[in-house]
Amino acid sequence: MKRAPLLLLACCLAACGPSKATKRWAADLTGGDPDHGKSAIRHYGCISCHTIDGISSEALVGPPLIKMASRSYLAGNLDNTPANMIHFIQHPRQIHNDTAMPEMGVTDDDARDIAAFLYCFK
Ligand code: HEC
Repeated sequence: MKRAPLLLLACCLAACGPSKATKRWAADLTGGDPDHGKSAIRHYGCISCHTIDGISSEALVGPPLIKMASRSYLAGNLDNTPANMIHFIQHPRQIHNDTAMPEMGVTDDDARDIAAFLYCFK
């Protein structure tokens, strides 16, 4: 019996991600699909450089992508807007030509979906 709360917690940690309401908010904000964004992040290998909310907490080559919806700025000096987030994900070197983040050929749809996923965390 004493194990019940722990089991509940374990189930919650495994299943919990952002709430449905938060996902809807992030989808409305970006026009993207957060669930697809999560798989796109895996597909492009972003976690080889970034610790990312809801996905991984290992890599620290680039800055951790955590609480992205609460940030004022992206990549040091960009206002944190969906359009800037999407642009930076697709073309970091158009914004900072000497950045270590590579151009990865992220498609328009995938960039929107990835931004939607990242904005699920406040
Ligand atoms: C080779 C390592 C590398 C890979 C792979 C990489 N990034 Fe980055 N990323 C960086 C670095 C370094 C920065 C800091 C860049 C800067 O400020 O100019 C950065 C910055 C960012 C930022 C701004 C973070 C902040 O704190 O303001 C976002 C968002 C981001 N990356 C998303 C992605 C996504 C999405 C992918 C996968 C499509 C990805 N990155 C793949 C290295 C990488």
